[in-house]
Amino acid sequence: MVEEATQGLHSTAGHRKIYHTETPSSLSEIEDHKLPYIDIPIVEVQRVLGKGLVKGSIVLLGGDPGVGKSTLLLQLLGKILDQDFAGSSLYVSGEESAQQIKMRASRLGVSNDQLLVYAETNLHQVLTQIEKIRPQIVVIDSVQTLYSPDISSIPGSISQVREVADQLVRIGKQNHIAIFIVGHVTKDGNLAGPKTLEHLVDTVLHFEGEREQPCRILRCLKNRFGPTDEIGVFEMAGDGLVEISNPSELFLRERPDKTPGSVVFPTLEGSRPILVEVQGLACQSSYGVSLRNAVGFDKNRLTMLLAVLEKRAGIVLSNYDVYINVVGGLRLFEPAADLAICSAILSSVTNNSISSTMIVFGEVGLSGEIRTVRQQDLRLKESSKLGFKEALVPFKKEAPLDAFRLQLTPLNSVIDLLDHIGNKNTIDS
Ligand code: TYD
Ligand code: MG
Repeated sequence: MVEEATQGLHSTAGHRKIYHTETPSSLSEIEDHKLPYIDIPIVEVQRVLGKGLVKGSIVLLGGDPGVGKSTLLLQLLGKILDQDFAGSSLYVSGEESAQQIKMRASRLGVSNDQLLVYAETNLHQVLTQIEKIRPQIVVIDSVQTLYSPDISSIPGSISQVREVADQLVRIGKQNHIAIFIVGHVTKDGNLAGPKTLEHLVDTVLHFEGEREQPCRILRCLKNRFGPTDEIGVFEMAGDGLVEISNPSELFLRERPDKTPGSVVFPTLEGSRPILVEVQGLACQSSYGVSLRNAVGFDKNRLTMLLAVLEKRAGIVLSNYDVYINVVGGLRLFEPAADLAICSAILSSVTNNSISSTMIVFGEVGLSGEIRTVRQQDLRLKESSKLGFKEALVPFKKEAPLDAFRLQLTPLNSVIDLLDHIGNKNTIDS
């Protein structure tokens, strides 16, 4: 049962009226309306949001506790206020004291006087201050720590989280205030609260990364004002988040030379090609059951690819434990990664290293056929730019054997892969 607020200072009833029109009208009768954007001086965030932050829009920023949400937003506010920006921002924290926020701000080099910090958990107080100050941007950190006195359940419960978000959406829309709402979401979905807010807000961002690794990725899961397929890449450093404008360098930085099982795959994140190292490890299983494990790749798809390798290319791996690791914390969802996964496994099992100047992409079908993937040219171009010289690619009739100064090796089927992994052309001598 979920408790709902029925009365109180800021009742929910008003909020549903925000989008109301008097009567139904045809599209041509509705006036055009240009969206007012606030420019975001952090390229990696701007890219994810599309054209910028829309005034009056509500953005939910989710992510694991400790991933860097507060850091990102504090840096963002600092940067926005430092540009010629008419207006103030309010940073509401229910998690940290004003002193703690100040310490963090000085560490991050944020010192603008237009940034107001407010440590408070009572929603009514927060709403009152927003109405009084009328900031252009508000950050609520986090939705789980605020509570409405109209509801008796504890902060962070579903009814509280929903009521808090509802009220924030109302006040943001009515006053054209852009509001960032931070929500902690754990991988196992334990704190499912913020998930239930996704339909209420305009934009849902997710900040991800392993706490032990420096790489952080900002992903857009929903955007009413733009595309959702771009990502922003950051590195967590001692003085906050640093933008990574060329992520391939980050992902390939520590790539070992001449090691079996390592291959480079040009993936596409939105419109941006990023080169990542895919690692495979196949070793004889010691217990009756062989293990399959993947970090950064779908485990079910890995199992499928192993079945294809067995049935179509005769590579039997049932006595082997097989591991896949996508280096750097990136997750590959594209079928285009299939051929790279197969290559990494084959390279490991045959103990042949793949040339360090080679990239691999292609989708693998159940018949073992290798299929073309979207935006091949973009992938090849980027690989060439980063100094790669050869590519294993899907076969295409009458396609030239070189492109962008890369030598191409077209493959029809996973059987062809056997000729190239373990063959002189692909091994570092
Ligand atoms: P934080 O923004 O507090 O995470 P969240 O709000 O998502 O819970 O960041 C947490 C971690 O980031 C913290 O454990 C330490 C690290 N960190 C740095 O490495 N460098 C920095 O400059 C800052 C501010 C944090
Ligand atoms: Mg925080």
